[in-house]
Amino acid sequence: MRHKATGVGQQVIDLQANSLSKRFGTAAPVFSGLDFSIRRGECVALVGANGTGKSTLLRCCLGLIAPDAGRVSLLGVTLADLGGTARRELRARTGLVGQKHNLVPRLSVLSNVIHGLLGRHSGPRYWIQGLAPAEARAAAMAALEKVGLADLALRRADQLSGGQSQRVAIARALVCSPRFLVADEPCASLDPQAGEEVMALFMSLVKREGVTVLFTSHNVQHALSYGDRILGLQGGRIAIDARSADVTPLEMAKLYG
Ligand SMILES: Nc1ncnc2c1ncn2[C@@H]1O[C@H](COP(=O)(O)OP(=O)(O)O)[C@@H](O)[C@H]1O
Ligand SMILES: [Mg+2]
Repeated sequence: MRHKATGVGQQVIDLQANSLSKRFGTAAPVFSGLDFSIRRGECVALVGANGTGKSTLLRCCLGLIAPDAGRVSLLGVTLADLGGTARRELRARTGLVGQKHNLVPRLSVLSNVIHGLLGRHSGPRYWIQGLAPAEARAAAMAALEKVGLADLALRRADQLSGGQSQRVAIARALVCSPRFLVADEPCASLDPQAGEEVMALFMSLVKREGVTVLFTSHNVQHALSYGDRILGLQGGRIAIDARSADVTPLEMAKLYG
């Protein structure tokens, strides 16, 4: 079953959040009444102080946790309505790159990238490269080429540097040709030099492939330079929703004030 994305005029909206609210237990709401949308091909930086709810919001947008109120529509599909099959289909067209790479340490780089196809296929043939169908191995090698690590395909994941591991995690996210990617502080665990390289690589790949991206970064410079648009979260509300070229350093600073 394929779903048509909702269009507004000529512009396709890949993510639409309406009146989104989330709280944990009896604590004050992390956020409430959030409304925003992300157009196809846009790269949006979600920024805000520590603990303002960026990761929680990202997880709601991907359907990994349910909001208490409101609605998320992702690639034209309303998340709350999804049955198991539709949820799997949607998962195969979306991806998450986290702060930690979460590679399986004792498996090869290639096997780890093949795991990125598990949204589309299931079963042990996709657990290790030796069992994987030839097309899966070829797709994983192509993804490794893109991140410049094809020569390390057979190395064990626990033999990689932090920067290399994060590049493998990016290959794993790209191998299923996702339409929408979420990256939650993809460089936070790397030293500044490796972080810069990984961010530049990630952004050049998603732009080249036309993937819609929502990412967070604690690095204001990364947010402004890589994001076409800034969504600023403060006090449980959207305090900034503007093109990054129009956001002043003072406005950014206020978010963290
Ligand atoms: N699973 C959870 N259970 C309870 N509280 C949580 C959970 N996840 C996040 N929180 C709380 O929600 C708030 C927002 O957290 P988070 O989304 O991680 O913020 P950010 O990513 O902006 O640092 C924090 O106060 C955090 O402690
Ligand atoms: Mg976070």
